[in-house]
Amino acid sequence: MSKRKKLREYWTFMNSAARQPSTVGAVLPTSRYVAAAVATVVPSYGAPTVLELGPGTGALSGPIQRRLAEGARHLAVEIDPKMVHYLRCAKPWLEVIEGDATHLRKLLDEAGVDQVDAVISSIPWTLLPPDKQRELLLQAASVMAPNGVFTTVTYLTTLWRQPTRAFITALQDTFDEVLPRTAIWRNVPPARIYACRRPR
Ligand SMILES: C[S@@+](CC[C@H](N)C(=O)[O-])C[C@H]1O[C@@H](n2cnc3c(N)ncnc32)[C@H](O)[C@@H]1O
Repeated sequence: MSKRKKLREYWTFMNSAARQPSTVGAVLPTSRYVAAAVATVVPSYGAPTVLELGPGTGALSGPIQRRLAEGARHLAVEIDPKMVHYLRCAKPWLEVIEGDATHLRKLLDEAGVDQVDAVISSIPWTLLPPDKQRELLLQAASVMAPNGVFTTVTYLTTLWRQPTRAFITALQDTFDEVLPRTAIWRNVPPARIYACRRPR
């Protein structure tokens, strides 16, 4: 990516973060190290349907897209209109749906999608109240294929906080398998990825 494009990406992200801090939940886009690790959960063969929740300026979208084979479908649900506008201009290969992931089933019905094989979420879970966390997780689980995967990013700096602990418990209540992966230090703040399978 050229320096100019990178600057535009950062400007769009930081602008939204300043306007809507609790919706964006981060000061910088996710690092390429986390993005590369997240992308490995996406099937690299066949024609899977892959869904990002909260793509922001698409820090995860490029690495995911590069892994997908021809025939795969790559969608993203983003609530912030400015991020949506940015993504539609900068990443025209991404099927961007403007909307709230709380209404996922309806949004996917409108896009003609029945089930998805992978959900990649970077919604700021720990800033949400527990009932909202669970509502969103149930929505995500309800659109997943039985052998699908749900993956999400949390920050190591907030692991001991009550909202993060509540979120991990909500993950365990929603999925039969919840696998924490190794910590990734090269991110602001350092991150941990969870991969979850078999919605209950
Ligand atoms: C921490 S940012 C992550 C952005 C990007 N995926 C990254 O990793 O750099 C969270 C994103 O989730 C979006 N978001 C928050 N709540 C949402 C919701 N209910 N539905 C859809 N998007 C949401 C925000 O607008 C923001 O773009």
